[in-house]
Amino acid sequence: MGYEAKFKVWRGDTEGGGLHDFTVEVNEGEVVLDIIHRLQATQAPDLAVRWNCKAGKCGSCSAEVNGRPRLLCMTRMSTFTQDEVVTVTPMRTFPVIRDLVTDVSFNYRKAREVPSFTPPMDLKPGEYRMQQTDVERSQEFRKCIECFLCQNVCHVVRDHEDNKHAFSGPRYLMRIAELEMHPLDVADRRELAQEDAGLGFCNITKCCTEVCPEHIKITDNALIPLKERVVDRKYDPIVWLGNKLFRR
Ligand code: SF4
Ligand code: F3S
Ligand code: FES
Repeated sequence: MGYEAKFKVWRGDTEGGGLHDFTVEVNEGEVVLDIIHRLQATQAPDLAVRWNCKAGKCGSCSAEVNGRPRLLCMTRMSTFTQDEVVTVTPMRTFPVIRDLVTDVSFNYRKAREVPSFTPPMDLKPGEYRMQQTDVERSQEFRKCIECFLCQNVCHVVRDHEDNKHAFSGPRYLMRIAELEMHPLDVADRRELAQEDAGLGFCNITKCCTEVCPEHIKITDNALIPLKERVVDRKYDPIVWLGNKLFRR
């Protein structure tokens, strides 16, 4: 059965903005993105929202619903009571462009800073061989749809804008971990992780893991193992001696 829901939607641009009240029809089986589309069709034709697949796979429709980072297309209206006010705001960590659309180019910059897969020089494509367990490990990380909800929720950048230059965020630390654990990747990425990508800023709060719509265990399977590898390198006496002798 349909009903009328109360919505608060943030509207504005780089100059500022605020929450606007709407009363809008909701039908059985609908998700928050359906309601935003109905608002565009009936009451707010210029309301900006980014979306693409409406199937939880493109990672475009990230926003915050009642303060929680969510994909708008995967947030069912049935998760709210009919008298609950549903508040939709843009991701807080990234600059607003307009309404629910944010400028996520921070993430593209951080992606470019991770050197690509570096296989051994003497192996040609087609000659790569690896254990199934190693294939499966990286497959978990490759489920990432680049929605940036983990990047949005991590307090290291969410609450400290100044950290953006020094911290790549969980999604890109996970990418470094994926390559570092890849048996055919010959690059040593531990210094990159610690010095350039700011792994030390992560204090394992696991908020990134909690919001991941792909249920990737970012903290347990990527960030903590990467921290362990960095510590191994730091306290390896051979590495320590090498650093003392050659890296003054
Ligand atoms: Fe989104 Fe999960 Fe990928 Fe982060 S790791 S960008 S939350 S899919
Ligand atoms: Fe941030 Fe995730 Fe670490 S939320 S602090 S990157 S565990
Ligand atoms: Fe593609 Fe929501 S529209 S993930």
